[in-house]
Amino acid sequence: MTKYQISQIHNFLKSRRSVMARNMTMPGPTDLQIKDLIEIAARVPDHGKLAPWRFIIFENEAREKVGKGFADIQKQNLPASTDEDLQLEAKRFQRAPLVIGVVASPKEHPKIPYWEQYLSAGAACQNLLIAAQSMGFAAQWLTEWIAYDTKVASFLGLAEKEKIAGFIYIGTATEAPKERKRPELQDVLTYWPSQ
Ligand SMILES: Cc1cc2nc3c(=O)[nH]c(=O)nc-3n(C[C@H](O)[C@H](O)[C@H](O)COP(=O)(O)O)c2cc1C
Repeated sequence: MTKYQISQIHNFLKSRRSVMARNMTMPGPTDLQIKDLIEIAARVPDHGKLAPWRFIIFENEAREKVGKGFADIQKQNLPASTDEDLQLEAKRFQRAPLVIGVVASPKEHPKIPYWEQYLSAGAACQNLLIAAQSMGFAAQWLTEWIAYDTKVASFLGLAEKEKIAGFIYIGTATEAPKERKRPELQDVLTYWPSQ
């Protein structure tokens, strides 16, 4: 890799930002681009080569279908939900042309704890974000209540030990995101041993 390419990646990583799902529109990635995204998502550090993650694609009409399920579950969980609440659920995945569900799918292993496998799933989410943003797409990593609801988990076909690591929303930005405040280095950085 040339120095020039390295400096482009460095600049990209120092300036990239997520775009809120509600600020996304068509187009999303093509089928070929989606395959590329998944290939990059799966290229993460993974102790023991366990591939402790899997990916679920929601696009086109699947976003409406899954939304009906979210609305039904919302109604069961909170019978007092208003029509507006249910509409919000029905449209949840229609905020972006593409949503990729990253499922942490840990494997039993004598030496590799679930914790490390969950970290690898988080890395897969971040790789997806970086890959989509580097292709010029808007992307955001969201969880929201649907990532933690057991009825949603079984509706999406998750096994008992599986968890949602994130839903990565991908589309085209309707407006450029503003810079947001980042932590001061002195608040997050120490040199060991401390003075
Ligand atoms: C695991 C995880 C879950 C998140 N879930 C949500 C969420 O449910 N709702 C939300 O508004 N932001 C959520 N975020 C934050 C968004 O991704 C937000 O856009 C991000 O912090 C800004 O990121 P940027 O530094 O890439 O611009 C989540 C972030 C992570 C890492």
